[in-house]
Amino acid sequence: MKFASIFAVTLALVAITQAAPMKFTRRRFGVEHTPEADATFQEVKDIVQGTDKEEKAGNLSGAMVRALLAKAPACDQQDRADEVIDLGRELGGEQEEQLIEVAKTYRQLERNTPNAGQPSELCKKPPRNKELEGLVQAQDPTGKAKDPEVGKGKDKEPEVGKGKDKDPEVGKGKDKEPEDPANGEENVAETDPVGGVKMPKIQQDGDVFIVNGNEFKDIKTAQGRQCDIQHNLCFNKFNAGDRSFSGADCDNQTGVCKSGPP
Ligand SMILES: *[C@@H]1O[C@H](CO)[C@@H](O)[C@H](O)[C@H]1NC(C)=O
Ligand SMILES: *[C@@H]1O[C@H](CO)[C@@H](O)[C@H](O)[C@H]1NC(C)=O
Repeated sequence: MKFASIFAVTLALVAITQAAPMKFTRRRFGVEHTPEADATFQEVKDIVQGTDKEEKAGNLSGAMVRALLAKAPACDQQDRADEVIDLGRELGGEQEEQLIEVAKTYRQLERNTPNAGQPSELCKKPPRNKELEGLVQAQDPTGKAKDPEVGKGKDKEPEVGKGKDKDPEVGKGKDKEPEDPANGEENVAETDPVGGVKMPKIQQDGDVFIVNGNEFKDIKTAQGRQCDIQHNLCFNKFNAGDRSFSGADCDNQTGVCKSGPP
């Protein structure tokens, strides 16, 4: 029953894709200045106002913008997010909590790539602050032509700028009872993960699929995110010194993960 309705939703999205292919290509430029991104740069400055960290926050805010540019090294976005949390640690209290939330939102912003639709490279080192573990940047929703998420542009727009309301959701997926949409079938990346590094669960809430606080309209895209996060965590463990597996194993697993059942 559940699968039947998921299938129907997927088909509906494909239909939208074909009907309106131009709607969502317009926003492919300059993702460093979406309202959601701009809000994070501004919040870093606002939160520290009246403290002796204003100049530091101003510098960091500018560096946050640059880290989202296509030419920025793969880990700059994570490094800046770590620095936002570091700044929070220096201030403590409510300001620390606020800056952690900004850092988490910022870490998950989409980053520019040289060509529209091209995925941005994931950072392959672990973040310094545990609050950022498992978080990766969003990818261009127009990226994969055969991906049902392509049709999502229209639905996604209202979310832009909503970052602040959404923040408390980030990372709090565990509160919701995980509902495994694919009971019965097995994905080796799930049952026997490389290095024992598990992927985050997909949670289903109505017809929305949630992975680490990020919402997806179709399960295949949610699965892709799930696999990408596992890939990142797998590399984190490898980079932290675990040599019981190789980076190539992490890469290979991602293919297995994405092609297997969700
Ligand atoms: C901010 O950036 C300016 C210009 O690069 C630099 O001179 C200054 O030392 C920086 N301030 C802080 C607090 O990092
Ligand atoms: C990738 O994984 C598959 C399935 O587990 C396996 O058969 C294959 O040998 C692996 N390839 C590499 C290069 O490790």
